[in-house]
Amino acid sequence: MCPGTIPEHARRRRSARATPIPSAARASIPGRPIIAADKAQSWVYTEEFIIEPDTVLEARHRAEEFGITPVSPGVGAALRLLAATVDAHSVAEVGTGTGVSGLWLLEGIRPGGVLTTIDVEVEHQRAAKEVFGEAGVSATRVRTISGRALEVLPRLADGAYDMVVIDGDPAEAADYAEQGIRMLRTGGVLAVADALWYDRVADPARRDEATVAMRELGKSVRDDERLIPALLPSGEGLLAAVKR
Ligand SMILES: C[S@@+](CC[C@H](N)C(=O)[O-])C[C@H]1O[C@@H](n2cnc3c(N)ncnc32)[C@H](O)[C@@H]1O
Repeated sequence: MCPGTIPEHARRRRSARATPIPSAARASIPGRPIIAADKAQSWVYTEEFIIEPDTVLEARHRAEEFGITPVSPGVGAALRLLAATVDAHSVAEVGTGTGVSGLWLLEGIRPGGVLTTIDVEVEHQRAAKEVFGEAGVSATRVRTISGRALEVLPRLADGAYDMVVIDGDPAEAADYAEQGIRMLRTGGVLAVADALWYDRVADPARRDEATVAMRELGKSVRDDERLIPALLPSGEGLLAAVKR
């Protein structure tokens, strides 16, 4: 094929491949993928791979009005997948927001199952309840608890939840996780949103409070004998772990 007939996107890929890869980015483990410029395109593709329903888009608009950042579509789809994988009947969430993650979770939770969701901001939860209602979610499927997570979580039962999702205050996330592990049944899943904290966690030079908190939480979940962990690069990072 003469160069003139190569489509522009393929030419870009070819020239990216022809560019020498810095030694630090080269695979040191056989079979390990090399991170090339095309990776960013793949990440965008994965985020757009599953189309969000209009009800979720409405919840996103509400989040924008409040200036809060909901989980990305890729993280939402992963939360739904995890809930369905463990055949979740009972899910607890810290950080209701305006209900983006809640709507995704409710799609993965078994019919008749319940999402218990905690938020300190009454206005956020009011918006989430409206969104759930507009989406046709029965009020019996959602239990909203208004309050500070560190005051509410200790009141929730041991081993009673199939999944615990954390998306509240990053500085407190490690304490939420400890409570979450206590609340999970064996085989239940812990999921922590924003585990890469806006791409700062991977950069050791970043030492702000939220970044350090999420970095330390990732390491402690990774090293916790009670858990089987994985750090997924969807959205702002989803740290997931199954309780042994
Ligand atoms: C990133 S938003 C959650 C977004 C939501 N998970 C979604 O995807 O739509 C974080 C939420 O955590 C709540 N939050 C912050 N600190 C909290 C705390 N100490 N206890 C409970 N909720 C808290 C905020 O009010 C906010 O609604």
